[in-house]
Amino acid sequence: MCKMTALFKHMDIRCSCGDHHIKSCEDVMETLKNQFLPCRGCLADDLKKFRPLNQQVDLKNVDYQWKLCKCGRRHLDSVMAHVLKIMMEEGQRKNNSTLRHAGTPLITPGYPLKSPPYLGKDSLVLLTDEIDHKSALRIYKEVPEVRGVLKGDLKETVGVTDSESSPHTYQLLKGCDLRCDVLETPSGPICIYKNQGQIHIEFPKPSNPKITVLHETMDQYSNPSVLDCTCGPGTLGISALKSGARKVVFNDIWYPAAWITSVNLGVNGFPVEFSQKKQGLIGEGDNFQVYCADLRDLKPFLDEKYDIGVIDPFPGVDFTEFSQIMGEICHEVIIIG
Ligand SMILES: C[S@@+](CC[C@H](N)C(=O)[O-])C[C@H]1O[C@@H](n2cnc3c(N)ncnc32)[C@H](O)[C@@H]1O
Ligand SMILES: [Zn+2]
Ligand SMILES: [Zn+2]
Repeated sequence: MCKMTALFKHMDIRCSCGDHHIKSCEDVMETLKNQFLPCRGCLADDLKKFRPLNQQVDLKNVDYQWKLCKCGRRHLDSVMAHVLKIMMEEGQRKNNSTLRHAGTPLITPGYPLKSPPYLGKDSLVLLTDEIDHKSALRIYKEVPEVRGVLKGDLKETVGVTDSESSPHTYQLLKGCDLRCDVLETPSGPICIYKNQGQIHIEFPKPSNPKITVLHETMDQYSNPSVLDCTCGPGTLGISALKSGARKVVFNDIWYPAAWITSVNLGVNGFPVEFSQKKQGLIGEGDNFQVYCADLRDLKPFLDEKYDIGVIDPFPGVDFTEFSQIMGEICHEVIIIG
């Protein structure tokens, strides 16, 4: 039986684009080893980020073969130069634009890199604030490394900040916005998928302070139960399960977060069953449940008091009420963020 089918209890879990972009963490780690490192033939790039691209390159030479190595990869800057050339041709950027004007490259799988990556096909989601549909379509069709094009402002938080706020999403103009981040935990790496138009961006760091704080607290218990009440894509609760938490309850008010948390559980080796509901209990497994609810409404769903309650609000959110509610459901509450 296929590994993924077993992890998702015989459901065919696919990326929302219909493709098979969701892989098990084991498979992601296997391909990650040398994925972004140059081979002997890869061409280094000497483009200056603050100098207009048209002063450094003859733009008519820039196409999908420009600076392409036989191994099928190109330096990140070469890819972004190709993106920028299309934007300039389409009148979306001034002729004297520099690489910085092309947008934010979101690499997948994302993990802390010591040097700029060499990218293969389908390995980059482009986030950019000013772009029209036609340019997005051209970039998607002509730049093989680009998996999807998102329109949005990096400074704006994606998702919902609390129950009163209306959701903010980036607009997916073309392709697929699913990426995977690889995060180190005390019990090994975990893979956290995110539809980047719907889930906030957190760039992976060599050490993750949120995971460290949670594990320092967990170390004071033996196999604690954990309530990750603002779970986002599930990073903290999944890290807790991997390190031997007896039970974890995940919850998020935002359905795309609760859904991708359930997917991420399967991806990381915790078989999950989906409930087909979009509110309340979304998915469950042997020792975890995933809810989609305002944390103010969570208490009736819970059957016990949890050892550790984790609150990870977006910056600027007043979490006084969150702490008070969690204090009633958990022995100890930690506030992260
Ligand atoms: C900073 S993110 C959590 C990130 C997550 N801990 C991680 O490490 O990936 C904050 C989350 O709180 C959720 N949230 C906001 N208000 C909430 C509420 N009233 N009840 C439950 N979740 C809420 C948001 O949807 C968002 O996913
Ligand atoms: Zn996809
Ligand atoms: Zn190469």
